[in-house]
Amino acid sequence: MRIISGIQPSGNITLGNYLGAVKNFVKLQDKEDITDFLVFVADLHAITVPQDKAELRKNIKSLVSIYLACGLNPEKVKIFIQSEVPAHAQIGWVLQCNGYIGELERMTQYKDKKERQVAGVSVGLLTYPSLMAGDILLYDADMVPTGLDQKQHLELTRDLAERFNNKYGETFVVPTPFIPEAGAKIMSLTEPTKKMSKSDPNPKAYISLLDDINVIKKKIKSAVTDSDGTIKYDIDNKPGISNLLTILSCITNTSIKDLEAKYKDSNYATFKEDVANAVANEIMPIQEKYNELINSKYLDEVLDQGRDYANYLANKKLNKIYNKIGLGRKR
Ligand code: TYM
Repeated sequence: MRIISGIQPSGNITLGNYLGAVKNFVKLQDKEDITDFLVFVADLHAITVPQDKAELRKNIKSLVSIYLACGLNPEKVKIFIQSEVPAHAQIGWVLQCNGYIGELERMTQYKDKKERQVAGVSVGLLTYPSLMAGDILLYDADMVPTGLDQKQHLELTRDLAERFNNKYGETFVVPTPFIPEAGAKIMSLTEPTKKMSKSDPNPKAYISLLDDINVIKKKIKSAVTDSDGTIKYDIDNKPGISNLLTILSCITNTSIKDLEAKYKDSNYATFKEDVANAVANEIMPIQEKYNELINSKYLDEVLDQGRDYANYLANKKLNKIYNKIGLGRKR
């Protein structure tokens, strides 16, 4: 089985990215039937909105360091930077030419981001899901672990793969999304009906894996809840408490039911204190490793190896795709 996933280096990696994605990559890397597991830094995706050059470079390196600090093992997972594998952009173009404007305009993430873009909406923001489909189809990935917000993009990927296969003959594996049952949508701490996002203008809304530990605790303790006073999972009426229960459940591997029973007679302050400590204890060792790694040559070694391997797989596939379509000369 082949697995692939990526994260955009477009800001601070949040607790949402960690619980919805990275923590699952770390779990999945020990599965026995894996032939290839690729995790990349989606830098080409990041430039769909304006980026500061120095900031982007810093975020790319930081994300690689985060991957390793969270426990991805380069002997099991190839880590690479998307823009260092040119075939991503090449297949992205091919898929753009097989996608329809209408289906791209229906993507909710495009609609949301478009609203927030004041300085003009780039063409890339619209066509981005075809690049994402290319990221996946290029490697014949069977499984794609992501959070819930990528589900629609993964469905489009499946549609594009099937459409291409029907038009040009069997070419692509149609991938299966892997969306975890718990933690697939961690919510904002200040507006718990909204997704926790690394691009939220309010830093109190999210926990960055690189926030100071005391700041992390403070953010959790001041998370928006309700005035009902009971610790129960109820998304509609108690989104803040439900979100904190989900976070605690993911980190401690305890079911929500068991947590509700444990905190039956507790008040919000005690509960929040426990959530704050659990999150802090999970993130502290990650930060320690991150600090050891961020300026080490090891990052480059990992990335060189990942780039070479990904290019090898991707170029082989790209040739097959070009041949199916009739591009260039037969090779
Ligand atoms: P990105 O960078 O927005 O998010 C990275 C991963 O984190 C998950 N995620 C969340 N999970 C739970 N709660 C949240 N609040 C939360 N916010 C984000 C996302 O679902 C994702 O798994 N388009 C992708 C990157 C990408 C990709 C790919 C992923 C590009 N090509 C190919 C998989 C396969 C994105 O923007 O993710």
